[in-house]
Amino acid sequence: MNKKKYSRRKFISVLSASSAALTLPTVVPAGPYIKSSTAKLAVGGGAPVRTKPWPQWPAMIVDEQMLNNITATTKSGNWSRINNPVNGTVATFEKKYAALTGAKYCVGTGSGTQALGVCVDALNIQPGDEVITSSYTDFGTISSILAARALPIFADLDYPSYQIDAAAIAQKITPNTKAIMPVHIMGSACNMDAIMAVANKHHIPVIEDACQANFAKYKGRQLGTIGQLGCFSFQGSKQIAAGEGGAVIGNDDALMDKVYTIQNHGTNRKGQNTTIGQKLRMNEFEGSIILSQLDKAVERFEKRNENANYLSSKIKNIPGLTPQLQYEGTNSSGYYLYAFTYDKKHFNNVERQVFLKALNAEGVPAGGYIKGMQHDLWATNILELSGYKKSYTNQQIKLFKDSLELPSCDRVTETVVVISAGAILLGTKADMDDIIHALEKVYANRNSLA
Ligand SMILES: Cc1ncc(COP(=O)(O)O)c(C=O)c1O
Repeated sequence: MNKKKYSRRKFISVLSASSAALTLPTVVPAGPYIKSSTAKLAVGGGAPVRTKPWPQWPAMIVDEQMLNNITATTKSGNWSRINNPVNGTVATFEKKYAALTGAKYCVGTGSGTQALGVCVDALNIQPGDEVITSSYTDFGTISSILAARALPIFADLDYPSYQIDAAAIAQKITPNTKAIMPVHIMGSACNMDAIMAVANKHHIPVIEDACQANFAKYKGRQLGTIGQLGCFSFQGSKQIAAGEGGAVIGNDDALMDKVYTIQNHGTNRKGQNTTIGQKLRMNEFEGSIILSQLDKAVERFEKRNENANYLSSKIKNIPGLTPQLQYEGTNSSGYYLYAFTYDKKHFNNVERQVFLKALNAEGVPAGGYIKGMQHDLWATNILELSGYKKSYTNQQIKLFKDSLELPSCDRVTETVVVISAGAILLGTKADMDDIIHALEKVYANRNSLA
């Protein structure tokens, strides 16, 4: 493993160094758009661009209606969805969310991880089967595959979008591939036309991990409704937040019945135990808190898109910063995170963490998101499990190990900068200007970054 890590790191540094030498000057002259060029960086003792605190998510969305709804649920004594299966908060949420997304059905679950896991089970995915997915994701994605003792096979990313690459998926398909699980990372669309073409060619179902992508649209359709099944998360940091919570959407009657049954410990809507399933039900408090947000969630989604488009229109003019690529046909994004790529060649060759420290000091809370190498950790753990040793052939283990070679993913983990979008992208234009000015200021002072 260590040897492998080293070689992959080396590959990345060689790649960066060679492209730097070939294509770009070390010092990029400031353009006329750079505003705060004379101000000293806050990290060096200057005044920060912004001192005003940013609102906190999800505390900022607590309102009277939410408190009243939770009180009403508490007083009703109906705390489980089975107490009121038709008009309870979970059942009402399911109807409303299906209508909002354009899906025929929605089933609530206790988390996004559970939603994905229920889909894996509903597609009869078993030990010995493979699911192709992205390693640039929350661990919940992978966990949902591992819970069925199925084998996650990673396909590399399309670097500028950070999304799983359809061509890489095509190369990983085997007779054991039972599903493709694309992740709409940051809340923006994967290249769904290309992914569905690969999936349809091989008759493989697609489970969309839209956990970060509520309401986002691609070619007029909401993410989560393009594959056979789509999954969402309402974890506390998400754009619709309930502490924990999740949902599956889909159009196929039989499959969505199965989804319901599996999340209800294998018991169908008629009360008959028909299959294996854990108890993964959303509870009425979660339903209540989600319902309180739904209408405003749509307004907030629109506001985030407006602000993100404004940010991108400015950030793309700062050398070395490139907003996440949105595929042709993307109508909107969920913007769980606003993301851009940092190219150190334009910033006096300083590492991303130096850039981030300077940006944070200017009052912009930005970070690096998912750390590299998490797929290597998974690999080591999985291969130690006796169930995995028993269920997979040497050829499959090799396929799995080979799928851990992810040069684009490694590059993404080292170069992406994210701004948590839940609260921040709901700000005013002046708030967005603070972000832009901070970035411009860091760029203008790049030669003093060390
Ligand atoms: C892309 C992605 N997939 C899956 C999950 C898992 O969702 P949850 O945390 O609700 O289990 C998350 C949540 O963080 C996510 O962002």
